[in-house]
Amino acid sequence: MTATRPDQEQAASEPALADAAPIHPLPRHVAIIMDGNGRWARARNLPRQAGHRAGTENIRRIIEGFAEHGVEMITLYAFSTENWSRPPEEVDFLLNLIPEVLERETAKLHEKGARLRHLGRLDVLAPDIQRAVRDAIELTKNNTRITVNLAFNYGGRAEIVDAIRALLAEGVPAEAVTEEVVSAHLYTAGAPDPDLIIRTAGEMRLSNFLIWQAAYAEYYSTPVYWPDFGKDDVRAALLAYSRRKRRFGGLDPH
Ligand code: FPP
Repeated sequence: MTATRPDQEQAASEPALADAAPIHPLPRHVAIIMDGNGRWARARNLPRQAGHRAGTENIRRIIEGFAEHGVEMITLYAFSTENWSRPPEEVDFLLNLIPEVLERETAKLHEKGARLRHLGRLDVLAPDIQRAVRDAIELTKNNTRITVNLAFNYGGRAEIVDAIRALLAEGVPAEAVTEEVVSAHLYTAGAPDPDLIIRTAGEMRLSNFLIWQAAYAEYYSTPVYWPDFGKDDVRAALLAYSRRKRRFGGLDPH
């Protein structure tokens, strides 16, 4: 059950949902702000933790959905540097969910050809979390069907700070600092910038997510709460993207 707002693109009103024709153009990289777990739980009189757990149950299906359409990369925003300000029990719960989900899902994602990567500050997290993440990255490193970046303990500003620190530590002279050099020092070095940012649960904020890389991304907000986001919503978001005219600051070609 989700509230609808008139200013948002409605997944349910997309006319071509049942149409299995390939979508064109497709984004290469889709990044997702998975929001609304708490509201999903509240609507069912459940504790917030039940919402977060439900929010892990659709992850494999969503990854599979994007891969079936031919999307090369997705990034999932699972825990931001700002999420540390939540009550300690919720922080603990969310952080412990990560190794649990990796334990449950990695082998199946590996079978489906997904390569897992991490974006964020990993080395300050508990050793068991670091180990689970490193094991999943190592197991899946040669897969080529779809790359899944898990952004946790991730913040866009922290990422830029880390890039500046790395540049200074390398002694890169000021005149050698270009946009390409900065990009190559971000956690996403070598990855295409996101073409499409999806946010569930109706908010219209970027929340410190991929703030450098999203400079020209198309933005899509749906009122659907994250645990309810399914393959139809994947298709609706991709269809909406395919209808956008991207100009990258230039003019229409015609
Ligand atoms: C936002 O809901 C969701 C989060 C802060 C956590 C998202 C994490 C998951 C879905 C788990 C994913 C785990 C892996 C390993 C990918 P909210 O609590 O802000 O919801 P609300 O705004 O309705 O309260």
